[in-house]
Amino acid sequence: MGESFTGKRAGVDRRTFLTGTALAGAAAATATAGRAAAVQTAGVKPIVIASGNGLRSQADDGETCVERAFRMITEGADVLDAVIAGVNIVELDPEDTSVGYGGLPDAHGNVTLDSCCMHGPKKRAGGVAAIQGVRTPSLVAQAVADKTDHHLIVGQGAQDLARQFGFTIEDDLNTDTSRRIFFEWKRRVDPAHYLDPERDAALRWRVLHDMARDGIIDPEHMYGTINCNGVNAAGDVCGVTTTSGLAWKIPGRVGDSPILGAGLYVDNDVGAAGSTGRGEANLYNCASYLVVEEMRRGAHPKDAGMTALARIRANTVDSRLLNEDGNPNFDVNFYVVDKQGRHAGVRFYSGDNRNYAVCTENGAELVPIEGLIS
Ligand code: GLY
Repeated sequence: MGESFTGKRAGVDRRTFLTGTALAGAAAATATAGRAAAVQTAGVKPIVIASGNGLRSQADDGETCVERAFRMITEGADVLDAVIAGVNIVELDPEDTSVGYGGLPDAHGNVTLDSCCMHGPKKRAGGVAAIQGVRTPSLVAQAVADKTDHHLIVGQGAQDLARQFGFTIEDDLNTDTSRRIFFEWKRRVDPAHYLDPERDAALRWRVLHDMARDGIIDPEHMYGTINCNGVNAAGDVCGVTTTSGLAWKIPGRVGDSPILGAGLYVDNDVGAAGSTGRGEANLYNCASYLVVEEMRRGAHPKDAGMTALARIRANTVDSRLLNEDGNPNFDVNFYVVDKQGRHAGVRFYSGDNRNYAVCTENGAELVPIEGLIS
């Protein structure tokens, strides 16, 4: 299942790349516009949005997640098929240590993956959690939606089901990179073997942040994840979220990504919202569901996302999760698109120029994520 991947990455200077690809994208969009005309029935301009890694990993042909999903949508593909084909590029990228193959493993060194997807018009959803051995958990999540009566399958059961569906099961989804980083983490944490549990937890948290500070892991890859949502010309909305979850998590820990309403929510009458960042915050607040419900009440995607962030902030009271200003010491991002194609990326902090990926008829671009707290 899935495609081969040669590990191509968008260059460091993504903006330079975009200058070229925006032109190419515009040309491609013009070319695809004719093909798309037949399916444009509702007057909606197709759009795909994703977390920033949706414009970083590249397939063999150079396409990124949002570009592939957008191309497929404008060619008439099912929107969920399109956004999943997009995130497959990231899942298969060994250099993205937050998603799929090569995702940072749990505390025992096992790469365990979470994903869910929702099909707006069919009102079907599926998810897998803590699945091992399958590079593309988003495709297994889709199979759960399409081929079973259930919404969420976890652990060994998810792997067994994937095997029955014909997915290739691998012994180990670690790459040299994820293994090297895991052993660096072990090296830093091992002296803690004899600490009491509270100190041990604090040390694990500090070591994780130290490794991000030291440039060993991408700060965005602590929780990792890609979310990608698309709307086609008929106004059909679909979304997918997929992740290797929190780095060094306690084995068995499941985050928000495979949980409908937390890491993703889609309503075909309204729009879609998905998330990256601290999954526990989303799980506690059912935040993606809240975003979609806010849009149902008429809110713009940005305001809907900000409302969810404010809710998470209000519900974060544990001192270990607060900074000196009394605000959350973690981040959560929402990628939100409504049925009309209006979109936004929002997060707690605006400080460090994070972007999300958007692809429209004008090509692919990175758009700044707006912060609740400056
Ligand atoms: N948002 C990804 C996770 O917490 O697992």
